[in-house]
Amino acid sequence: MKLSVPHIDKNDIKSVNNVLKSEWISTSSKTVNTFESKLSFFCKTKYSVALNSGTSAIHLGLKVLGVDKNSEVIVPSLTFIATVNPILYLGAKPIIFDVDCYHNLKVNDVINFIKKKTEFKNNNTINKKTKKIIKVIIITHMWGRACNFSKLKEICKKRKIFIIEDAAEALGSYVTRDKNNHCGAIGDIGCLSFNANKIITTGSGGAIITNNKKFYLRAQYLANQAKDDTFNYIHNECGYNYKMNSICAALGISQLKRLKKKIAQRKKIYNRYLLNFKKSKNIELLSFDKKSKTNYWMNILFFKKLNFQKTYDLSLSLAKKKIETRRLWRPLNLQLHLKKFEKFNVKNAIKFYQNSLCVPSDDNISESDVDKISKYIKKFYEIIINK
Ligand SMILES: Cc1ncc(COP(=O)(O)O)c(C=O)c1O
Repeated sequence: MKLSVPHIDKNDIKSVNNVLKSEWISTSSKTVNTFESKLSFFCKTKYSVALNSGTSAIHLGLKVLGVDKNSEVIVPSLTFIATVNPILYLGAKPIIFDVDCYHNLKVNDVINFIKKKTEFKNNNTINKKTKKIIKVIIITHMWGRACNFSKLKEICKKRKIFIIEDAAEALGSYVTRDKNNHCGAIGDIGCLSFNANKIITTGSGGAIITNNKKFYLRAQYLANQAKDDTFNYIHNECGYNYKMNSICAALGISQLKRLKKKIAQRKKIYNRYLLNFKKSKNIELLSFDKKSKTNYWMNILFFKKLNFQKTYDLSLSLAKKKIETRRLWRPLNLQLHLKKFEKFNVKNAIKFYQNSLCVPSDDNISESDVDKISKYIKKFYEIIINK
């Protein structure tokens, strides 16, 4: 029983086959344009740029917003490495903050930091300690759980700090304050991923979504080799080969049609885990903000009394029963190449990393599978804790 794997059906194959037969397989085609329009329609944004990965979406987003070697970018500690590495590609520096009870950026800590540890000069927010410009904050919507960052958005507007939403895991998730706002469509730029383990897949792939025309045009330009004159091959600056190809886009169009069904299926899985662990004192299922709608991409269990080693032992015992589990993303401040960067009180991220596991959440899992998984988790937990 798997965490999350791709599901390819006959319609996906038909859609891809049609593109293969048409010979329009490169990055510029009607199929790519159609996928972009369908994404914009689904996320209710004005624009989308389909790309070859979520990592390129984050890199391009940072580049479009002007991040360079004089910039600093705020990130949450508990996230996949691809949230932070693109900051380093641009020679900028990350500042690492803790996460809240939903594993999302601790918004209040960032607001306090901006108020107390930065100053506003010449239209820029300057970190008093390093004298660098805080250019961007990356909000992640971890495991599909939407981060509600409205208070932070207000202060960022005044302080000229851009917001990128890393919504790689959150296609189909919403912040629901006054209305449904799709994750990625709330800040300046949103980044999606369609990697094989995501709720829908294009094999590998990603996208930028935005309501800002200037950012959209710049992202399209840079993603497509910064072509100024196609016939004469004139490129006035350094671009990238980041666009999605038509084969992936055809798969994306077909997969997108099943997204709502997939979310409904994953909701059933979440509710069953919830029921099974509701009465457990020592095992907690990761919840989500009540002012949000989640896509239920991944379920996480927190084992209050286990330590790092015992959590691993539990994972090994479950593997013997063909139940796949994995740790959470390793906190960024613990990664060797990131240890030197500024960080603030990352206690929660470390606590959750120590003794939580991602548990099977794939579309194919039935409620009786969840019962079986839950039974083994409880059984092995008791054995391990009493060792
Ligand atoms: C939070 C997060 N950010 C970024 C990425 C990068 O996306 P990709 O693998 O498509 O490059 C992923 C997923 O893989 C992710 O989970």
